Amino acid sequence: MCGIVGYIGQKNIKEVLINGLSELEYRGYDSAGIAIMQESNLSIYKSIGKLNNLIDKTKDLKTDKNILRVGIGHTRWATHGKPTELNAHPHIGEFSFVVHNGIIENYKKIKDKLEKNGHKFISQTDTEVIAHLFEYNLEKQSDALKAFQITINELEGAYAILLITKSENNRIFFAKNGSPLIIGYTEDEIYFGSSDAPLVGLANEVTYFNDNEFGVVSIYNNTNSIEIYNKKFEKVDIIKKSLSINKQFAQKGGFRFFMEKEVYEQSRVISETIMGRVKDEKIEFEELNKTLFDNIENITICACGTSFHAGLASSYLFERISKVPTKVEVASEFRYKEPLLNKNTLFIVISQSGETADTLEALKMAKEAGLKTLVICNVDNSSMVRLADFTILTRAGIEKGVASTKAFATQMVVLWMLSLYIANIKKSISKEFLEKELKAILTIPSILKIDNNLHEKLKRLSKRYLHGHGFFFIGRDIFYPLALEGALKLKEISYLHAEGYPAGEMKHGPIALADSELFTIALMPKNILYEKMKSNVEELSARDSTILAISAYEFEIADDFIKIKEQNHYMFEFFEMMIVLQLLAMEIAIRLGNDVDMPRNLAKSVTVE
Ligand code: AGP
Repeated sequence: MCGIVGYIGQKNIKEVLINGLSELEYRGYDSAGIAIMQESNLSIYKSIGKLNNLIDKTKDLKTDKNILRVGIGHTRWATHGKPTELNAHPHIGEFSFVVHNGIIENYKKIKDKLEKNGHKFISQTDTEVIAHLFEYNLEKQSDALKAFQITINELEGAYAILLITKSENNRIFFAKNGSPLIIGYTEDEIYFGSSDAPLVGLANEVTYFNDNEFGVVSIYNNTNSIEIYNKKFEKVDIIKKSLSINKQFAQKGGFRFFMEKEVYEQSRVISETIMGRVKDEKIEFEELNKTLFDNIENITICACGTSFHAGLASSYLFERISKVPTKVEVASEFRYKEPLLNKNTLFIVISQSGETADTLEALKMAKEAGLKTLVICNVDNSSMVRLADFTILTRAGIEKGVASTKAFATQMVVLWMLSLYIANIKKSISKEFLEKELKAILTIPSILKIDNNLHEKLKRLSKRYLHGHGFFFIGRDIFYPLALEGALKLKEISYLHAEGYPAGEMKHGPIALADSELFTIALMPKNILYEKMKSNVEELSARDSTILAISAYEFEIADDFIKIKEQNHYMFEFFEMMIVLQLLAMEIAIRLGNDVDMPRNLAKSVTVE
């Protein structure tokens, strides 16, 4: 997930672009860049790492106001190609610059065609093909807008694009499909942003685009001109809305906390996680090669916290689907237990940040022992990504909330896809089963769309769960790790005591805690061990614990009941219940007046032991 900005006008354009990017840095900060055009001379500045590096690089760039200039800018969250200066945006053709947020799925096919026509590429990114394809189409007919339309129609995937070109020195071409892009304006200026944030305090009005819309903006004789078209090149009405929000509100996209925004983002980011990886009959990870799994007889997964829970959940999938014996270790235990390591083990580490000290040390131990290593990570170029033999990026975008949500969801989808990828190599599943699972994975974004009634019900329900002496979160099978995750979410933002347990463990001691002050959150999927769960919950209810049942079926003895949709796949129930647990923990914490995004005693990345 990246951030893009654009501007036409007579303000100090360097300031406008850089300030705009600083409002979008939460979307990614692997690299940043700006391109500015004055009359027909184009200049470009790019740097890796945080925006400050770009500010340093452009400190001598003077763009005094009262001169009409056109410019675009980009802050990058790497999805294709390492975060290097060459891969930083804007990308260049011969005479045009482009910035892009999203993933062009068919970029390889386009790149091959263009290379055959003499185009030379310098980066590993998908974005670079857009500039070359535009110039290729412009050669074939002189109208720049038509060339841009033909270019956009050839792209497959998600994109928000801004393009400037020498031959059109006071215009910006734009297109949107699946990634956010907003246009803002005053009488004689035009602004673009990936969210409202860069436009706040500058534009008076905004227009929100629909997917598959494109167009061109310009300033002639101090008056703005905006043209928006649909895929058929038919003009679209421009709906103008006033822009009167504050910056902080804008960065959170109107949500109360980054955590809430990130829970709601899960549907969209999972689409990006899946993009280009679920093909017609199989899973493809372009970051992997099949040799990774040669002579692999078992898997060890190592992680901390929420990432450990994703690893534990995935072990059910690796054994059930890939038929590969899998064990899961807490990294801080693993690194000191003098583990037995052998070379036919695939060592997988899972980490949102890629910097967690214990997980990083475990990875080093595995590398030193000569094991093949794979990291499932959300931050490209992080320490673990640089160390592991192979990486699969989760593409969740920046996760600002300390309580991990969308990172967990994307880890789960990557691990589910990986279990199928390995199963396909080991031929441990039928073609029919694989097709069913691929369809199921493609359904996850819709499963993660949040029903407002559900959220409202959880807001109301949360008032009943503020003062117990503790919570049991119980589940069976893959819902046991989800119970652990639900308990952790609650603990870390509400500061209430909660424990996740395998439901079958109650009789082995924990049920001694059951009384009217104990809250039990019971995960009761229809598709896995429902009857077993019922009897475990009845035992707790009989001892007066207050029961909150999460299930597709009404459960008469539950004191409270959160209904999820009836599903024919246990992973659909898994993701539906994940949303319930995330929102329940957040609403309880909000009622308790806690800082949901920065809970006490915690840090987003634990880079020390
Ligand atoms: C989860 O909500 C916590 N923030 C924490 O448990 C986190 O998952 C853990 O510290 C691991 O972090 P990582 O995924 O960046 O390695």
